[in-house]
Amino acid sequence: MKQRIVFTCQECGAQSPKWLGRCPECGAWNSLVEERPVPAVAGAGAAAASAGARYSLAATAGPRLYEEIDTVVSERLSTGIGEFDRVLGGGVVPGSLVLIGGEPGIGKSTLLLQAAAHFANSTGTVLYSSGEESEHQIKSRGERLGVGRAPLYLLAETCLERILEEIARLRPALIIVDSVQTVFSLKFQSAPGSIGQVREAATQLLFAAKGQNIPTFLVGHVTKDGSLAGPKALEHIVDTVLYFEGEKHHAHRVVRAVKNRFGAVSELGVFEMTGKGLTPVPNPSALFLAERPANAPGSAVLCCMEGSRPLLVEVQALVSTSSFGNARRMASGIDQNRLSLLLAVLEKRAGLNLMGEDVFINVAGGMTIDEPAADLAVVAAVASSMRNRPIQQGTAVFGEVGLAGEIRGTTQGALRLREAAQMGFTRCIVPEGNCSPDDLPDGCEVVPVKTVGEALDQLMEW
Ligand code: TYD
Ligand code: MG
Repeated sequence: MKQRIVFTCQECGAQSPKWLGRCPECGAWNSLVEERPVPAVAGAGAAAASAGARYSLAATAGPRLYEEIDTVVSERLSTGIGEFDRVLGGGVVPGSLVLIGGEPGIGKSTLLLQAAAHFANSTGTVLYSSGEESEHQIKSRGERLGVGRAPLYLLAETCLERILEEIARLRPALIIVDSVQTVFSLKFQSAPGSIGQVREAATQLLFAAKGQNIPTFLVGHVTKDGSLAGPKALEHIVDTVLYFEGEKHHAHRVVRAVKNRFGAVSELGVFEMTGKGLTPVPNPSALFLAERPANAPGSAVLCCMEGSRPLLVEVQALVSTSSFGNARRMASGIDQNRLSLLLAVLEKRAGLNLMGEDVFINVAGGMTIDEPAADLAVVAAVASSMRNRPIQQGTAVFGEVGLAGEIRGTTQGALRLREAAQMGFTRCIVPEGNCSPDDLPDGCEVVPVKTVGEALDQLMEW
């Protein structure tokens, strides 16, 4: 019998019966790869199939009336690392599948090994399956992290069916699969890391996790542009997607939830990479403000929200006369288009002549901020650098800037103000809408402003 061949796009998962230079679905070039699925009965997948069968039992029970279904308050299992629990929404939910992405060397394996060791100590057997490192390599890292005696099993294996067999045999309380891209199923002939393989591995592990109610962590590689390698479908399959952020040159690492079926998104955990692994940073604001220059023009302190957590970060601007016809505008940590918009508002509504000036913006510490509340800090930093006047000491800001130059209110004003007061800031320039009397913290003057011009007058002397 002639075997059916399909060509699958490695970017989006679209299939085609013949090879094409460009994927008709997503437009990626040279992304189609030949894949030959083996008929599903091919023995090797038996363990996987049985795990699947167990899972589908629940699904075949037929529809049930909404009010007859009991509410199950899913208990959370602690990973033993406070900041990690926080990102997960208060601990890991039994039977959930969590994907952790991040650049190579950022600390994914380190964090998971630490979590595995804690979990094995407190809750039960952990299976750590790695396709990237040998048991000895993992053990030598464990020595560094101070992993002691615990029911922690290491498995250097890339074959999906073998991993599933071990899961069925060990019945662990937690599964970690270090890099889903290295896992391959015998059912497919395509190379590990290809879209078919990755999807199959994730799906089978999902069945195992849900069917046996075991929480599972998957490590995922990211591509050069920072998105998870392999199909976007992977993000749909799993319950929670976490991203590791941070620069290799900085010691701190940020773990962010971008999707979470069991908690708030954009929840943030902050860690520091030390000689003994990743240690949680209990007060990230202090970390991000640690090296702030005193009384320097172009530096503004922003009160932003990351998930449910208020965070103080420094926004820096440098405005310098352009020597070329086209002034350069560069933003790192905020959106470039947003910067262009804010510069236009400053030009038109606050009378700053920025036409012939290069403008550079940087959020200190490698943070990325995408909430509009950052607008006022950007505007303040640019104006401060342009006029070469420092912003008054002990002042923090937040607020959205509209096109008419108005300052608009933001969410969670009270939390932001409290964090600023706690960090020793004595003055906050905020939108008028965020000044309700109940929100005002002790020991911190709150100045409501309506327009950009007003804000700038309050921030610095001319
Ligand atoms: P790792 O967890 O292997 O990264 P990933 O799995 O995301 O690829 O992290 C490795 C990096 O962390 C490596 O550059 C060394 C550093 N590191 C420390 O600084 N201290 C430590 O205790 C450990 C275990 C690693
Ligand atoms: Mg690793």
